[in-house]
Amino acid sequence: MENIGKKYTARAHTNIALVKYWGKENEELIIPANSSISLTLDEFYTDTSVIFDSTLQKDLITINDEITDDKKIINFLDLIRKKAGINLYAKVESYNHVPNSAGLASSASAYASLATAGSKAAGLELSDKELSMLARRGSGSATRSIFGGFAAWNKGTDDNTSYGYSIEDPVKMDINMIAIVLNGNPKKISSRVGMKISYETSPFYDSWIKQTNDDFSTIENAIKNGDFSTLGKTAELNAMRMHSLTLSADPSYLYLNKDSLLVIEMVKTLREQGIECYYTMDAGPNVKIICQKNNIKPIINKLSNQFSQDQIKVSGPGEKVKLI
Ligand code: PMV
Repeated sequence: MENIGKKYTARAHTNIALVKYWGKENEELIIPANSSISLTLDEFYTDTSVIFDSTLQKDLITINDEITDDKKIINFLDLIRKKAGINLYAKVESYNHVPNSAGLASSASAYASLATAGSKAAGLELSDKELSMLARRGSGSATRSIFGGFAAWNKGTDDNTSYGYSIEDPVKMDINMIAIVLNGNPKKISSRVGMKISYETSPFYDSWIKQTNDDFSTIENAIKNGDFSTLGKTAELNAMRMHSLTLSADPSYLYLNKDSLLVIEMVKTLREQGIECYYTMDAGPNVKIICQKNNIKPIINKLSNQFSQDQIKVSGPGEKVKLI
């Protein structure tokens, strides 16, 4: 237990799903209804420090220097305490280097870094697979942020069989993402609530599972074959298939806004002009454009007609989680 009383800091990068996770078979354990694939991004990450300290009377948690009593984080610390067989409180300091409300899942990098720093500080020595299973309990997408480059989350059926793994890291393919940070109100429907409504009420849910399993194989093969076009095309289709589960739910809801549709149209126009690029969106209005290096410039030029420079963020593939 020599780690107890020492502070450990971990850095984890966020990821964008190419095959989306949208729905849980088990809400408590966060067992998804389908396997998913993502690209970890280098530009956006979270640094989290944890120390278990016998002098603390309660958990002290700050995110970007603001104190929080977030029950989800405390429950997550309880999980670590239980695994390590300790009952000490922790001091947690987390800094998100993810643009505010960029629709870039900061919960993925947040829980991946908390799982890594927290387990180490509690004296646990976990493998990447075990870290991914722990991170999963905080946020589903965090399962994949333990890994760099192209990563997958094997759906599994229980706590021990639902984990992340690396498909390819470092990434061989020339691939980048351009995130367009659209100004919008904070989302009314969280991903947790949204996926529950879709899972329970969309009449298309069974078709989504069937189709998304095919999309998984297609993208996995595209990564292995270095086939950017198939990867981009399939990721775009998969994103729209996910968003169709929001429109077809009861009550129906929508994450996209008029600016999202504008960016989608821009991507289609760019493609007609011979500039290969694809779009994807998560549980928010912001659009991420998937492209290759030589097309970053013309895409940014086009976007600049409508959006300011600070709304446009370019990122390449990022690394796996690490202690710093
Ligand atoms: O991990 P959560 O609960 O933030 O859900 C993530 C959901 C999507 O970002 C829309 C898809 C995904 O696989 O990351």
